[in-house]
Amino acid sequence: MARITLRQLLDDAAEHSYGVPAFNINNMEQGLAILEAARATDAPVILQASRGARSYAGDIMLAKMMEALEVMYPEIPICIHQDHGDTVATCLSAIQNGFTSVMMDGSLEADGKTPADYTYNAGITGEVSRLAHMVGASVEGELGCLGSLETGGGEAEDGHGFEGTLDRAMLLTDPDEAARFVAETQVDALAVAIGTSHGAYKFSKRPDGEVLAMDLIERLHAKLPDTHLVMHGSSSVPEEWQAVFNASGGEMRETYGVPVEEIVRGIRHGVRKVNIDTDLRLASTAEFRRVAQGSKSEFDPRKFLKPAMTAMTKVCTERFEAFGTAGNAQRIRVIPMADMARRYASGSLTTRSSAARAA
Ligand code: 13P
Repeated sequence: MARITLRQLLDDAAEHSYGVPAFNINNMEQGLAILEAARATDAPVILQASRGARSYAGDIMLAKMMEALEVMYPEIPICIHQDHGDTVATCLSAIQNGFTSVMMDGSLEADGKTPADYTYNAGITGEVSRLAHMVGASVEGELGCLGSLETGGGEAEDGHGFEGTLDRAMLLTDPDEAARFVAETQVDALAVAIGTSHGAYKFSKRPDGEVLAMDLIERLHAKLPDTHLVMHGSSSVPEEWQAVFNASGGEMRETYGVPVEEIVRGIRHGVRKVNIDTDLRLASTAEFRRVAQGSKSEFDPRKFLKPAMTAMTKVCTERFEAFGTAGNAQRIRVIPMADMARRYASGSLTTRSSAARAA
């Protein structure tokens, strides 16, 4: 059984220069598809559940599903992460349900819509770090609001995301403020705003540096070389799957995601966690549509779900290979959460040390 913390996994990724996709999960088919790809490529895994996923599947079902995946794939280190926690209670209840890592997203207030000020964000994120670290769980914070540099708008998803438009400055993480935030909150990883947003409609044309600020990743990494950076909204929205979706009765208007080569550039500059939800949703629903269109009399859900799982496994395999995650699972010796807690308590695990070195 190999349930790993985000901190240990991202320390390993930094040491060996790779990135880890964090796939969102709501159901069994996504879990099996992701883990099949991990087994085929020997990749460690981050499975993340949003608050929406927790209410969709229920905490008990999600927790038991994670346990089942651990038993079925014992050779794969699995990090279980709360995506976009909005309150201290959300983060603590995730840990209570077996999550090894939580995101406290204090960039928005607890309503999930209103951009928060620095003091609120640093205060609540620091509080979650203090509590989570006591039991060895890891914490991701976010500074800057995720939104489009093309329109200034946020893509509210799953009840999360600001409404209306924001200034360019609020949509880009400031490196000096980031250094202060990491020092004050002691987060293990920092999500940054660089022009990516959740969902399928990120860019109306192939993104350039004006709308996808990869140069800012380079500046943030130069300022914070020991901080694990996280890219949210990092689906690539593959044309291949858009084509299947649209050829089978779907209506997805022209759209572009984050090119895989730009993510790989980020990984060369400190990006260690790459959030991907839309790509698996698109690949699977494209397959539902294809099956439904091709055999109108089909009523066995497995005939829809099996091709959907194959499609998701294909996407995951491609990302594990492109991000350099492949080939790393076997080497990792998982540090139990209780040991991680001792390392935080003894001060040997700060934002400037690695879990491996602190052993
Ligand atoms: P995508 O919508 O680009 O897949 O992003 C998912 C995400 O960032 C979840 O936090």
